[in-house]
Amino acid sequence: MDLNKLKKQAAWAALDYIYPGSVIGVGTGTTIFYFIKALSTKKNLIYGTVSSSNSSTALLKEQGIQVFNLKNFSSVALYVDSADEINHHLQMIKGGGAALTREKIIAAMAKSFICIVDKSKKVDILGNFPLPIEIIPMAISYISKEIIKIGGKPKYRKDVITDNGNVIIDVYNLRIKDPISMEKKINALPGVVTVGLFASRSADIVLIGTKTGIKTITKKQK
Ligand code: 5RP
Repeated sequence: MDLNKLKKQAAWAALDYIYPGSVIGVGTGTTIFYFIKALSTKKNLIYGTVSSSNSSTALLKEQGIQVFNLKNFSSVALYVDSADEINHHLQMIKGGGAALTREKIIAAMAKSFICIVDKSKKVDILGNFPLPIEIIPMAISYISKEIIKIGGKPKYRKDVITDNGNVIIDVYNLRIKDPISMEKKINALPGVVTVGLFASRSADIVLIGTKTGIKTITKKQK
């Protein structure tokens, strides 16, 4: 099955959650590329968007969709983004596209976070996909050493500078059984800007593209 078709299916399904006059947070990546195309059909209905990366901003503008500066907003109604992996608690690994920091800011601001994925992204335990960490460049050796101590294998992502001017290390070899505590532990290391574990602020709804149609999972109310 062509995974791009499933990404597209999930992207179009997200349109059902868009309310007239609202500000939509827009994620980054290939799935979001389809979402931006879909959103262009509703551009006159929404108030506008805030974007999680320079690449998404460029795509949104190309489609004639209004993009506001995030610094003028303290909350948004809805955030739509994809993930590299998502578990049954709707906790995610994100950052394959190096946009994790801005993605995490918008996720935190969003009243509702809808994750759109193809079925290959749904996992039981997070960690098969290497965990991205955005770091201040001078901290690279220190953070790599600390990551080895917790059992991870850090690899510097060559030729990538984030929109914030930082670098990324991808951590292999992890089986993340307690995503909330790992997120806290890595975030607490000096020099870490953001870890790509979205566990404390998980998604509220995931729309999964499958060959038999969209599967919707909603976070259980606590
Ligand atoms: C970018 C991300 C993306 O959501 C994630 O990498 C999934 O991307 P794609 O839709 O291309 O599979 O976190 O930083």
